[in-house]
Amino acid sequence: FNPTKHLAYNGLPKRHTMEELALPDVGISPIAVSEPFELFSKEAAKYMRDEVLSDEVWENCRFASSLAACQLRGMSPKYAKFVYDAWTNPQTLRIISDIAGIELIPNMDYEIGHINISVQSADNPDLPAAPVVNWHKDSYPFVCVLMLSDAPDMKGGETALQTGTGEIMKVRGPQMGSAVVLQGRYITHIALPSTNCRERITMVTSFRPKDPSVPEDSILTTIRPVSDLRELYNQWTEYRIEIVEERCRRLVKKVRGRKRVGRDFDVEGVKAEIEELKNFLERTSDQLI
Ligand SMILES: [Fe+2]
Repeated sequence: FNPTKHLAYNGLPKRHTMEELALPDVGISPIAVSEPFELFSKEAAKYMRDEVLSDEVWENCRFASSLAACQLRGMSPKYAKFVYDAWTNPQTLRIISDIAGIELIPNMDYEIGHINISVQSADNPDLPAAPVVNWHKDSYPFVCVLMLSDAPDMKGGETALQTGTGEIMKVRGPQMGSAVVLQGRYITHIALPSTNCRERITMVTSFRPKDPSVPEDSILTTIRPVSDLRELYNQWTEYRIEIVEERCRRLVKKVRGRKRVGRDFDVEGVKAEIEELKNFLERTSDQLI
């Protein structure tokens, strides 16, 4: 992956805020969702398509659930090096973070390049292609949804968002190589069905805050049925405990710092932080079943 060649980004897209959605104090960023923006070149999107539609991915990474008929998951980096490099490249992360309004990194390797595939019957082009996932919130703080199908005549395919006052706001779906960013953990949303496109392949990469002191509310409820649990649980435990490590280190530093300058011990402050650590560890453990 060569960012100079394969990124097609040309500046901040229009974004909608949590405040516009009447969800002012919800989430980890003031940004709710972006309009579609060009992210990768068509050439890069084609490489990604070829990687994720290879035989070995099809054989080793295919999952189906009640939520979606065909998903490909956990292919990178093993079977999809270009996809992995594209989503972990510092320039790509710079773009996603700028749009999201907060520094983000991929949630775990397992969530890099999740693929949703829906195919529309050729005889019935007016029937919606996708079995629609119902209204939901995502398991991870932010997602970036990248379109990997070239479907210029596609109709529908928008994302509908529910505002805090119960109204519905629609955001246009992306075209080949372009993407949308959504704070999906905190906004109830639905992907509307599309017509007029034979196949619809979208790549979903999930993100979490880079700063370990920012709240991290990921869960695995809808993820487990479509995952290799050994891989998922290893990656989950690793990054969640790394966050605990870093939070502990910062707490120790804070306690030492206060002592060094001769201040009183902050009983309430320290107890609150230990309580939060306990909750975080409990939530981490609860997701392993
Ligand atoms: Fe979603």
